[in-house]
Amino acid sequence: MEQILVTGALGQIGSDLVDALRQKYGTANVLSTDIRNNLDDPNYAMLDILNKQRFREVMGDHKITQVYHLAAILSANGEWNPAKTWNVNFNAFLSLLELSNEMSIDKVFFPATIAVHGPTTPKTNTPQYTDLSPETVYGISKVSCELWANYYHKRYGLDVRSLRYPGVIGWKALPHGGTTDYAVEIFHAALKGEHYTCFLDADTRLPMMYIDDAIRATIELMDAPADQLTVRTSYNLAAMSFTPAEIAAKIQERLPNFTIDYQADFRQAIAATWSESIDDSLARKDWNWAHQYNLDNLVDEMLHQLVTNKIVTHV
Ligand code: NAD
Ligand code: SER
Repeated sequence: MEQILVTGALGQIGSDLVDALRQKYGTANVLSTDIRNNLDDPNYAMLDILNKQRFREVMGDHKITQVYHLAAILSANGEWNPAKTWNVNFNAFLSLLELSNEMSIDKVFFPATIAVHGPTTPKTNTPQYTDLSPETVYGISKVSCELWANYYHKRYGLDVRSLRYPGVIGWKALPHGGTTDYAVEIFHAALKGEHYTCFLDADTRLPMMYIDDAIRATIELMDAPADQLTVRTSYNLAAMSFTPAEIAAKIQERLPNFTIDYQADFRQAIAATWSESIDDSLARKDWNWAHQYNLDNLVDEMLHQLVTNKIVTHV
């Protein structure tokens, strides 16, 4: 039986990924870790990924065979402390590669992002292989992780796999400090009957994905036969692209009293350097990736799940 470690498990994506992995492998076989305490979880350990000795102990004590490495500081928060962001996003990842090699870990997953794109990257239908010159420390750190993952795979045969997630939209947890966070916050405001002020301009088009698709993509990639994978940096991955005005209009079709205005802040400059749409044909070809959610069923699902699970009280 696999013994799985998830880092950064209390974040937006970890909250869903841990549940999905536990359904597949059993709770006792999926160790959730993060920098904070979590007394409610029967299989949880505190792990600051900057502490390499503790990382080694946790991996050894739990006889870990696979690692899903989610811990990171996202694009907007990263700009407040670039050196710390580099340490958390890149140096700790390099420690994980070293430990995984040393401890003969079977498979490692880490997410890259659309933030690996920069102002010189083609904006539409962005190809898998293209100019990656990001201008945020988050993007720089994730491109560097991609290249080192590829290096460890080629040089040491370590089975590292990765996806460039678009902006991920889910209902279980709020995102923390990303540039695409508005696309989750907007649902909370709309259901609470609050006006929403969006921090991006109305016409800022970005690639996005519903959380269920992101989690399924992750597990399908990790289950794919190794010899089918032709990309060992990180696969482009896509589902839909929309602007704040377009998602607001879809919400207003369902909640006609919802109101929004736009006051762009520093995150607009970050978003302006990212792609609008992604060519993910290699993911579709290599391991049969197919998204299931478009903008309409994403909006239906978010409103339904936030209310049904009492995350937000609909006024
Ligand atoms: P998040 O900010 O919600 O969660 C990240 C988690 O990492 C947090 O729980 C935080 O406590 C933890 N963390 C931070 N520093 C740590 C440290 N030193 N040691 C241990 N844990 C630490 O982020 P998320 O949205 O869940 O993102 C998870 C991963 O997916 C990240 O690698 C991110 O780059 C990637 N990603 C996310 C999105 C998205 O839209 N959410 C898009 C592309 C890529
Ligand atoms: N959603 C992430 C962010 O905005 C993209 O990686 O930072």
